[in-house]
Amino acid sequence: MDFFSYQDNTLFAEDVSLAQIAAEHGTPTYVYSRKTLERHWYAFDNALSAHPHLICFAVKANSNIGVLSVLAKLGSGFDIVSGGELARVLAAGGDPGKVVFSGVAKTEDEIRFALEQEILCFNVESFAELDRIQKVAAELNVQAPISLRINPDVDANTHPYISTGLKANKFGIEHEKAVETYQYAKTLPNLTIKGMDCHIGSQLTETAPFVDALDRLLSLVDELASLDIHIKHLDVGGGLGVTYKDEVAPHPNDYASAIASRMAQRPELTLIMEPGRAIAANAGVLLTKVEFVKQNAEKNFAIIDAAMNDLLRPALYSAWQDIVPVLPRLNTPKVTYDVVGPVCETGDFLGKDRDLAIQSDDILAVKSAGAYGFVMSSNYNTRTRAAEILVDGEQVHVVRKREVLADLWANESTV
Ligand code: LLP
Repeated sequence: MDFFSYQDNTLFAEDVSLAQIAAEHGTPTYVYSRKTLERHWYAFDNALSAHPHLICFAVKANSNIGVLSVLAKLGSGFDIVSGGELARVLAAGGDPGKVVFSGVAKTEDEIRFALEQEILCFNVESFAELDRIQKVAAELNVQAPISLRINPDVDANTHPYISTGLKANKFGIEHEKAVETYQYAKTLPNLTIKGMDCHIGSQLTETAPFVDALDRLLSLVDELASLDIHIKHLDVGGGLGVTYKDEVAPHPNDYASAIASRMAQRPELTLIMEPGRAIAANAGVLLTKVEFVKQNAEKNFAIIDAAMNDLLRPALYSAWQDIVPVLPRLNTPKVTYDVVGPVCETGDFLGKDRDLAIQSDDILAVKSAGAYGFVMSSNYNTRTRAAEILVDGEQVHVVRKREVLADLWANESTV
């Protein structure tokens, strides 16, 4: 559930009219709802309340420091994949002691920074990475907490680009090599084995693949215990899907009850989850203005001021996100449009075959845009990136100003 709703035929974010935000701050603009972020975070935290646990928001889904600060105030942990994301968590007031560091190619500098900040754990993705962390930890004369990301080889039935737990993926350590990798890690003097983790994919709409992955991990935990390697936390990654169109995504409670009986037998294991999309996606919309409506022999086009550089998901994954008018025209017949942006690419669309009653200058909201939206945006076609706004009740916080053109070439020079 989210806090975007129509009041008097106007789309609101909490208590603020999106028409007013568009008029005052321009478009394209991302708008996030604090209440929705909090509600979704608590849905996870409450679902796992029966067991020792930590919710680590996947920063890659939305790394705006305003958004991160909302979650940090709830006591959230964070899943990061770069030194940059760690710096953002710190800037947002997040606790580095609740940070897990994933990613296949952590650099020495990133490892050093994370060790200095005393993060909770490195989610290690390869044999070679163990050596690299050992080297840096030895230089600093500290112990590095580590977990191994195990690739459980389960099919999460999701889009091939966002499925990560199969043997064919670059992520994690093969299940078959897990024991020897842990045994090797144990020989490295500056590493402390803390956990085991996995992440099998994103936008999952069933709980069965999570349960399969958990079973595979738990049997490894037991095998390791018999070898005197004791795992203290199990990090099951992110991946819970959301409703973009008509998908029926499991509630965090469904997920928690699917794994409850297994975890109840393991009170000594802290459970970590890394949800990104399920917390942020439906907590954000992208506001955009209709520039022109245009008809050619075969199609009608709604040309808007947002483009693939602002929201890449439709172009990259053929993702479907709802597009709705902020001020619906009640007595105008709907026409079927391809909703396209100004970028010079045929793939530049935010929606295809959408029935809308619209005219130039109307404001549209692209829904479910709070995750993997702004973070994947670019300056392609020398377009300034959108502003980001966080609504909190009646309050409007500009959490990222719209870029100005001079920002775009500030680091360039003529020759
Ligand atoms: N943990 C790890 C190690 C991950 O790789 C990811 C996402 C997450 C957690 C969070 O997963 P979530 O709960 O958000 O599903 N850009 C794509 C999604 C890529 C997801 C990559 N990894 C999209 O727009 O659909």
